[in-house]
Amino acid sequence: MNKVKLFDKTFRPLIPYSRIAEAIDKVADEINKDFMDCEDIPILLCVLNGSIMFTAELMKRLKFNCQVVSTKLTSYEGTSTTGKVKQAMGLTSDISGRRVIIIEDIVDSGNTIVELKRILDENGVSESKVCTLLYKPEAYKKDVKLDYVAMEIPNDFIVGFGLDYNEVGRNFQDIYILDI
Ligand code: IMP
Ligand code: MG
Repeated sequence: MNKVKLFDKTFRPLIPYSRIAEAIDKVADEINKDFMDCEDIPILLCVLNGSIMFTAELMKRLKFNCQVVSTKLTSYEGTSTTGKVKQAMGLTSDISGRRVIIIEDIVDSGNTIVELKRILDENGVSESKVCTLLYKPEAYKKDVKLDYVAMEIPNDFIVGFGLDYNEVGRNFQDIYILDI
């Protein structure tokens, strides 16, 4: 794997797709165990745009009937959070009374997860769980329980597998870290 350049910044390989796929297998097993015999149709909430690739890979591995709903939240500019989370697109379906699994690309400060939980409460869901591909434990400052975590990473800026730097880099199949 080679370094990649996006605008003014260079990124070096951090996690190859083979390891990402293994981590998704593991997290899908955990979710399958919890939801296998469910009689309802749980909702997978894809948080656009970052979670597109993770949602697609994860749902292929799920063995129960589920529905995909999306919303779009934004908070990042360049390589850091603005601290303000904006809902740039509302929920694509009614989710009241339903069980929801939030599918996130990454949990960093936790601001987005807190806002998502608030939105779900406001919409009257019966239960919500959090599933994230990546988690930065050193940056997380909230109490919201992260039910399914595929991989932990250091507190550095990354791109690839859905994650972007100013909207580019999402298409990379591997994950790259900012090179210093
Ligand atoms: P939080 O609200 O600080 O937890 O950040 C969550 C959102 O910020 C994620 O859903 C991502 O869209 C974005 N984000 C956080 N860390 C990174 C990163 O290292 N690279 C790219 N996007 C990130
Ligand atoms: Mg995101």
